[in-house]
Amino acid sequence: MTDRKKVAILGSTGSIGRQALDVIRQFPDRWEVVALAAGRNHELLAAQIDEFRPSWASWEGAASGALAEAMERAGSKRLDTAEMVLACDIPLVGTAGAAGLMPTLTALRAGKPVAIANKEVLVMAGHIVRRAMETGGGALHPVDSEHSAIWQCLWGEESHGIRRILLTASGGAFRDLDRSALAGVTAEQALNHPTWNMGRKITVDSATLMNKGMETIEAMWLFDVPMEKVEVVLHRESVVHSLVEFSDGSVKAQLGVPDMRLPIQLALAYPERMPAPPMPTLDLGAIGTLHFGTPDTDRFPCLKLAMESGRRGGTFPAAMAAADEVAVERFLAGEVGFLDIPGIIEAVLEKHERVADPDLETVLEADRIAREAARRVAVGVSA
Ligand SMILES: NC(=O)c1ccc[n+]([C@@H]2O[C@H](COP(=O)([O-])OP(=O)(O)OC[C@H]3O[C@@H](n4cnc5c(N)ncnc54)[C@H](OP(=O)(O)O)[C@@H]3O)[C@@H](O)[C@H]2O)c1
Repeated sequence: MTDRKKVAILGSTGSIGRQALDVIRQFPDRWEVVALAAGRNHELLAAQIDEFRPSWASWEGAASGALAEAMERAGSKRLDTAEMVLACDIPLVGTAGAAGLMPTLTALRAGKPVAIANKEVLVMAGHIVRRAMETGGGALHPVDSEHSAIWQCLWGEESHGIRRILLTASGGAFRDLDRSALAGVTAEQALNHPTWNMGRKITVDSATLMNKGMETIEAMWLFDVPMEKVEVVLHRESVVHSLVEFSDGSVKAQLGVPDMRLPIQLALAYPERMPAPPMPTLDLGAIGTLHFGTPDTDRFPCLKLAMESGRRGGTFPAAMAAADEVAVERFLAGEVGFLDIPGIIEAVLEKHERVADPDLETVLEADRIAREAARRVAVGVSA
């Protein structure tokens, strides 16, 4: 048990965090959870502390009674997330929004590998993250299934030119609806994703295709390619997780059953491949046909907005991501319609004053200004 890798799970109460703990449960002799970080779900965090007995934990707000008691039982101490990443061999950053930024930068600057799920970190500050990685010697192990696929396609191909990265997209819950039907969809309908069971924000982002747009920016930074080389292809079965085309025209794809535990496990175990958790194997005969198509950016303008922000760079992606977060909150609160989400983002970006090579402070300021602006955009902008 002495060679166990010490893991910190940031966002342990979320969809990614809970699945990461499932993976770790399968291999108790390989991984040791030394730190858990959550937000407001103190009850679940308390149960996780009882089970994994980490040395450190963090949460938002004052500890509930159950949480304080669990900390006491486990002898755990409260520690900031930016510090807990230094106390482990590999952090898994499964927080959502900006919460994962500082811990990711700290770990990379200290030369650690980071299993990264929190896509907003790369969308907001990809250039800063890359610099931290290059100067500190750390590495990013992608958790997102598409980026894990691209990562795997690139193994052994490091010296070969990438002509294109093809990110697959299931198309989200509303892929078959026309614009008038899209105008009337509810938050409850948007939260019903056809393939993946995820957090609320990313599920709505999947329905608007903003999630795919953010993934194009994520791919640009993770694999150091210009946005012009990143394309999105619709693929409703979610079996081909993404593809890479090389300079000789050869295209490699990675396939697998859609289960986030697989990319999570690989991100933690890399460079090893470990046995799969119990699950059905990929049965191509039963699937029969795989479909591919081109996304419709008239019905799903968020994809275009995100890719355009990635191309413009500087503070644009940070402003775009912040505006999206607020627009999604407003949609989930029933305050604005589904088609108002791109309308709000567009209205914020129209007024955004881009800074070309922003430092962290400038990125956070762009985030703050965009959030405020997105809260003020009048409802009905897209009508
Ligand atoms: N879910 C997926 O299948 C999937 C796939 C690919 C990529 N991703 C990306 O992974 C990230 C997480 O997604 P998710 O679906 O797991 O989201 P989620 O279910 O909403 O979970 C978010 C987690 O972050 C925690 N959190 C919030 N504020 C925090 C803070 N200040 N410090 C530490 N933890 C904090 C939450 O805690 P509480 O719940 O306790 O408040 C929760 O544990 C997102 O960036 C998403 O885009 C997700």
